[in-house]
Amino acid sequence: MSGTIQLGVNVDHVATLRQARGTRYPDPVMAAWLAEQAGADSITVHLREDRRHIQERDLEVLARTLQTRMNLEMALAEPVIAIAERLRPADVCLVPERRAELTTEGGLDVAGDLARVRSASERLAQAGIRVAPFIDPDERQLDACRAAGVGVVELHTGRYAEAADGAGRGRELERVRRAARHANSLGIEVHAGHGLNYQNVQPVAAIAAINELNIGHAIVARALFDGFAAAVAEMKRLMLAARGA
Ligand code: PXP
Repeated sequence: MSGTIQLGVNVDHVATLRQARGTRYPDPVMAAWLAEQAGADSITVHLREDRRHIQERDLEVLARTLQTRMNLEMALAEPVIAIAERLRPADVCLVPERRAELTTEGGLDVAGDLARVRSASERLAQAGIRVAPFIDPDERQLDACRAAGVGVVELHTGRYAEAADGAGRGRELERVRRAARHANSLGIEVHAGHGLNYQNVQPVAAIAAINELNIGHAIVARALFDGFAAAVAEMKRLMLAARGA
């Protein structure tokens, strides 16, 4: 809706690395701080039911320390709705969640679950939280979001990102573009994300109807290699210094 675009940085996979070894590092809170220093407009975290990456402790610290906005991704489930009501992130993104999935695989079926989406959105709105269902770029789902009374949606860009060839990517980009315009025509603000990376982000970022992109995996993966040589050199320096070299 506006001439600019915001970046929400998802720090879940910093926590994935921490949980893989049960250590205290790397800390997603530190990643959030660095992201904010680098220009992130919000920090996205997904508190999954199985707690595979982000922990409640992370949310508690982020709620007290973030200088931008917290965008909490969560399922439509009572325990996590209660956590959101207590911590009051600026934004909640309602996502479908299945234990076996590697990542969020599809959009939320708002049309098929209208009453639950509406009642959760109303509850969260009463806590001052903006609610955005994560949906496929589909006009039927957008009309349902309107009926549920939500003012923001996040469009799933996974099919665009995973398209097998240029023609498929072009078709999926057009679906995202059309859905974003339709949302704007309903007075709904549009965010988008999933699978966006350094190769495919620009055509989506160019869609004027989109206000914000949420990106995680590609940024965490890039950061790993941006820091790899320095990390190895520091370990070698410490080892040599221990021998008086
Ligand atoms: N938006 C939503 C709703 C998501 O579930 C995810 C993945 O956690 C993202 C954006 C970010 O996706 P990616 O890690 O592929 O950038």
